[in-house]
Amino acid sequence: MIRTTLVVGALLLGVSAVVAQQDLVKQNQDTMKANAKNLGAMIAMVKGEKPYDQAAVTEGLAQLEETARKLPTMFPDSIKGMNPADSKYEVSPKIWKDKAGFHAKIEEFAKVVTEAKPKITDLDTLKANAPAIGKACGNCHETFRIKKG
Ligand code: HEC
Repeated sequence: MIRTTLVVGALLLGVSAVVAQQDLVKQNQDTMKANAKNLGAMIAMVKGEKPYDQAAVTEGLAQLEETARKLPTMFPDSIKGMNPADSKYEVSPKIWKDKAGFHAKIEEFAKVVTEAKPKITDLDTLKANAPAIGKACGNCHETFRIKKG
C-alpha cells in the first residue's frame, strides 16, 4: 500500500513536471508573439501605416528588453525537443548543442535593444534604429528557429 502510494506520488510528480515544461514552452511562444506584436507596431509607424506613438514605443522597447533578460533561461535542457503547439516554427536542436552560439545571439540582441532604447525619441530616430532590432531577431531565428514544412 505504502509502495503503491509512493509509485503514484512519483508518477504525479512526473506529470506535473511535464505540465510545467509545457507551460514554459507556451510562455516562450507568448514572449515571441509579444516581441512580434511590439516590433510590428514600430515597423508600422516607420512605414507610416500608424502614427508615431512614443508611449507604445517605450512600452514595446521595455518588453523587448525584458525578452533579452529572459532569453538566457528560456530554453533549459528540461524542454529539449519540445515545441510550441499551433506554431509554424520549431526550436532548432542547435539551441542545446551550441549553447555558446545561442548565447552570442542573445547578447547581440540585448546590445542592440539596450543601445536603441534611449535613442528612440521620435519617428526619425525610430526609423534609424528599428531595422537593427529586426535584424537581431532574424539573426537568431536564422540559426536557432526552424520553419515547419
Ligand atoms: C536568441 C534567439 C532569439 C531572438 C533574439 C528572438 N527570437 Fe523569436 N524565436 C526564437 C526561437 C528559438 C523560436 C521558436 C520557439 C518558440 O516560439 O518559442 C522563436 C519564435 C518566434 C516567433 C514564432 C512564435 C509562434 O507563433 O510560434 C516569432 C513571431 C518570433 N520568434 C519573433 C521574434 C521577434 C520579433 C524578435 C525580436 C524582437 C525575436 N523573435 C527575437 C529565438 C529568438
